[in-house]
Amino acid sequence: MKILAIETSCDETSVAITENGRTILANQIYSQIDIHKLYGGVVPEIASRNHLLKISQMVDSALAEANCQFADIDALAVTKGPGLIGALLVGLNYAKSLAYALDKPLIPVHHIAGHIFSALPEHLDLKPPFLTLVASGGHTSIIACHDYDTLEILGETRDDAVGEAYDKVARTLGLSYPGGPMIDKLAQTGKGDAIHFKRTYLEKDSFDFSFSGIKSGVLNYINNSQQKNEEINIADLAASFQEAVVDVLVDKSMLAMEKTGLNDLVLCGGVAANSRLRERLKASCQERAYKLYYPTLKLCTDNAVMIACAAYYKAQKQGLSKNDLALNAQNNLDL
Ligand code: KG4
Ligand code: ZN
Repeated sequence: MKILAIETSCDETSVAITENGRTILANQIYSQIDIHKLYGGVVPEIASRNHLLKISQMVDSALAEANCQFADIDALAVTKGPGLIGALLVGLNYAKSLAYALDKPLIPVHHIAGHIFSALPEHLDLKPPFLTLVASGGHTSIIACHDYDTLEILGETRDDAVGEAYDKVARTLGLSYPGGPMIDKLAQTGKGDAIHFKRTYLEKDSFDFSFSGIKSGVLNYINNSQQKNEEINIADLAASFQEAVVDVLVDKSMLAMEKTGLNDLVLCGGVAANSRLRERLKASCQERAYKLYYPTLKLCTDNAVMIACAAYYKAQKQGLSKNDLALNAQNNLDL
């Protein structure tokens, strides 16, 4: 089954074509990062407009990359939510119109379900059950994937998402958007134990997260140093912030692995690109004989391959229904 999928939930306009869920025939991603950088973060209205400008071109490029025509496509898929409503609407309405014109089924997909399945195309041995640590700019959750259509949220953030904390701390340090990759790079030259930031674990055995405290901790540290006229070592600050965040992510993931009795862990979402998080999770999994999976960098951040993969398994479980013209985007959407 060939699926053409569209993802426009934030600032990437992406169109992919996969075969039987796991074979990537095309993966077109247009990133708007350079445009939003000027404003220090994603501007929703500008994101929508740029999706609109790019979407047709990305569909054509994906078909060309896959050496396909519309007639070869069995079904379309699209991100229904969560995300920026205007941005989602561009992809969703484009997909609905295309499905209507071509008389093909359209599979709506939850963005986080996409991230959860993002490691599948590159790891053919990976199948449920597995545990997922979703670490992105909008979400931080620990989710058990019992089966392709049975996802159980064990914990999620009560305030900021981890990527959001990275981006906010980076902005405070005067680094450009997106802050995650900048802090990751800077931290490689700093000492992770130079400054102690409080780790927030919440209640005993809770799988929920809270990252707003560490964000304030960094701000307070900067203000105090400035008041005392002390020079701030930005690399040490970045490394110490990162170490605190990674400690909590790793500890909670290991606890969830232990409690669920699962053996496979999937790290996904934009922050899965973080070198320290990968390194620390790899070591902890190795120690406990767990298998760790994560996608290549291109499939960590938002992309339509993961949407096509999730759509394929949804169709396998629920069958293909006709294009629903009443389908709408939702900025908030339960998994
Ligand atoms: O999954 P994603 O592309 O978008 C959302 O669905 O949110 O994630 C984007 C987030 C941003 O906050 C970005 O700063 C973060 O992922 N990110 C990183 C790294 N690369 C991207 N955070 C830490 N280290 C990185 N190397
Ligand atoms: Zn995402």
